Amino acid sequence: MLALDTIHLGDARELLPQLDDESIACSIWSPPYHVGKSYEQDIDFVAWQALLRDVIALHVPILKPGGFLVINIADILCFPDPQMPRIQAANPRRHRSSVTREDVLAAKAKYPHYNRYQLARLLGCSEQTIDRRLNGNNIRGGKYATQTRVKLVGGIVEQAALDAGLYLYDRRVWIKDAAWENSKWHTLSYRSVDEFEYIYIFWKPGITVVDRARLTPDEWVNWGSRGVWSFPSVRANDDHEAKFPIELPRRVIRLLTDPGDLVLDCFVGSGTTAVAAVVTGRNYIGIDKEPEYVRLAQEMCAKATATLSMQTNQEIEAGEEGIQLRLALERGIVYDINPAM
Ligand SMILES: C[S@@+](CC[C@H](N)C(=O)[O-])C[C@H]1O[C@@H](n2cnc3c(N)ncnc32)[C@H](O)[C@@H]1O
Repeated sequence: MLALDTIHLGDARELLPQLDDESIACSIWSPPYHVGKSYEQDIDFVAWQALLRDVIALHVPILKPGGFLVINIADILCFPDPQMPRIQAANPRRHRSSVTREDVLAAKAKYPHYNRYQLARLLGCSEQTIDRRLNGNNIRGGKYATQTRVKLVGGIVEQAALDAGLYLYDRRVWIKDAAWENSKWHTLSYRSVDEFEYIYIFWKPGITVVDRARLTPDEWVNWGSRGVWSFPSVRANDDHEAKFPIELPRRVIRLLTDPGDLVLDCFVGSGTTAVAAVVTGRNYIGIDKEPEYVRLAQEMCAKATATLSMQTNQEIEAGEEGIQLRLALERGIVYDINPAM
């Protein structure tokens, strides 16, 4: 058995079989989305689907009967499809930027560590112009690159779960803030800006305790019984590229588990699910394949545990389950607390 309340380094497919059978009350994770993040460079679409299938199937023995697997994921909005006919025709209103390839090369020579966004700011053009001048293509799948389409992913995870013996119990939509920064390309298409994700809840057959006392009546009305959850995404993804806000695992944990239960996240990243488990009084196991994220998650958990233990009785009574801590952690303002004091 992997140690409890610990973040483990390794591939989920290798470490999940080391967990005890029927030990996990709820597993909550957000996998790579197959959208080109640095931690998914080594994996193509076929391998990505296989990863999801394998990890989902590995949950069957380790989940408690009646327990849940909760997957947060989004559709792929720019899925390259070489078979797809081209959408884009010349845009009559588009003005060609006066920035030349020579301008970009000169800027790059002067600021070699600048990425294409920084170069774009420097030269007063779009990041697409930078990419076009350097590589002669359009990163969003325009005239010179493979055409992209929207790819729904719900069916992929639903089928993988069903094949393994887990049933879709519920699905919710998380409305986040509109990702304008990731969607500059919208001016070149009629596609919408990315502003929601899914939360799929799979159930392992067995007796499930439905305890309405886990939430207050207000919480039931405001989110416990609601199919749409609205809260902002993480503002600064400076230490991890794709964190979800702690509100997401916190709600799932409060809804689907009891204090003392064991919560798993096998794509734990910066440790958000583990921190949510700490502040709600649950145990956790976290897994990630990147050593830097394991270190980050360990640090986040240690800080959460230390901060929680320093909460005064007054704070604990005033705020449900360390909500003060959650808010503070999210704003990054509690890290100066010295656990030795
Ligand atoms: C979308 S991120 C999860 C972010 C996390 N929810 C958070 O709030 O920080 C996906 C994570 O899965 C990790 N990962 C990708 N493939 C993995 C694998 N085969 N085994 C374990 N971790 C993996 C990546 O390193 C990345 O940190």
